[in-house]
Amino acid sequence: NKGKYEHYMQKEIHEQPESLTTTMRGRLIHGGSHKAKTVLLGGLKDHLKTIRRSRRIVFIGCGTSYNAALAARPILEELSGVPVTMEVASDLLDRQGPIYREDTAVFVSQSGETADTLLALEYALENGALCVGITNTVGSAIARHTHCGVHINAGAEIGVASTKAYTSQIVVMAMLALAIGGDTISNEAKREATIDGLIDLPNKVREVLQLDQEMKDLAKLLIAEQSLLVFGRGYNYATALEGALKVKEVALMHSEGILAGEMKHGPLALVDENLPIVVIATRDACFSKQQSVIQQLHARKGRLIVMCSKGDAAAVCPGESCRAIEVPQVEDCLQPVVNIIPLQLLAYHLTVLRGFNVDQPRNLAKSVTTQ
Ligand code: UD1
Ligand code: F6R
Repeated sequence: NKGKYEHYMQKEIHEQPESLTTTMRGRLIHGGSHKAKTVLLGGLKDHLKTIRRSRRIVFIGCGTSYNAALAARPILEELSGVPVTMEVASDLLDRQGPIYREDTAVFVSQSGETADTLLALEYALENGALCVGITNTVGSAIARHTHCGVHINAGAEIGVASTKAYTSQIVVMAMLALAIGGDTISNEAKREATIDGLIDLPNKVREVLQLDQEMKDLAKLLIAEQSLLVFGRGYNYATALEGALKVKEVALMHSEGILAGEMKHGPLALVDENLPIVVIATRDACFSKQQSVIQQLHARKGRLIVMCSKGDAAAVCPGESCRAIEVPQVEDCLQPVVNIIPLQLLAYHLTVLRGFNVDQPRNLAKSVTTQ
């Protein structure tokens, strides 16, 4: 049921304040003698000690689910102190890459049925790793075959392009980082800020959804373009990859997410006065580096669209022709949840304006059950 919406993708984008609330429900609790709240993930509580003792945490997934894990990787590294590596499921299988008994392998999948992810799970089970699932579908193959896991509880996702599952996956993995990190003194400030940020996140998401009309106007400007680049780094490298994936899969426009630190190693050659470029430059540890990226793109007459924190437009935009997308600032590890939303809206409006099928992009299936 699409309710008041024209498409499932539109409905699922707009219901993110509610889906995120459901994802967190019952999982941020008062921690006994502590005043501050703490994270309780029922499905993991008996396994946290093993995960903390593992030699490595390996995230495994495909497409949007891989991107969600990439967004959560920095906070997991910071809070857990355990090395975190990333594997695209098909690539792990192609290489028969090393997975060890001492590893915790975390399988991220909205449907819980993706063939590549499921085969990677079988491979990791054979190799003796502790296998953890992060899925949206109770009773799915991945939920059943993992040793333990967390349901993201985002509600059924019908649009082929994943939107609300992505943001709920990031939130669950941020909670996973908090749970693994535990109540150590060294983590205390970060932990409390992140928990407060999680509690307020649905409000910030409601705020960023007000950019809907602005993103429709931007889509009108970009309707006939051949390509769109998205530059991000740090917490928002994943946002660049995921924003580009949305544009490419539904609007059928070439789009590429680029790690901004790699700009000079090739992508800079593409920059001219015609190619539109989104640069994500919200306030976090990478902000000043992104300011310098913006200056260098501007010096080559790049057509810039800068995503920045509220109030920063004048400071980050180098010239008249630069457009700004101002988003609410949140705790750095949660910023990817806010930042993807204008790009989801942009992809949605671009698709409708270009006259393509939003909920069923050509050649794609919701759940990829073949290799
Ligand atoms: C569980 C209940 C929830 C109830 C809550 C009350 C289910 C599905 N969930 O939620 O309805 O409100 O207790 O305390 O009945 N698991 C995997 N792999 C996965 C995902 C999950 O093995 O990919 C396992 C978990 O380890 C756990 C079980 O499935 O044993 C349920 O997981 P989850 O729904 O996340 O647990 P709770 O949040 O505790
Ligand atoms: C993109 C998209 C796909 C899926 C991928 C993995 O919007 O939906 O990239 O993310 O096929 O699917 P799951 O998460 O079901 O394993």
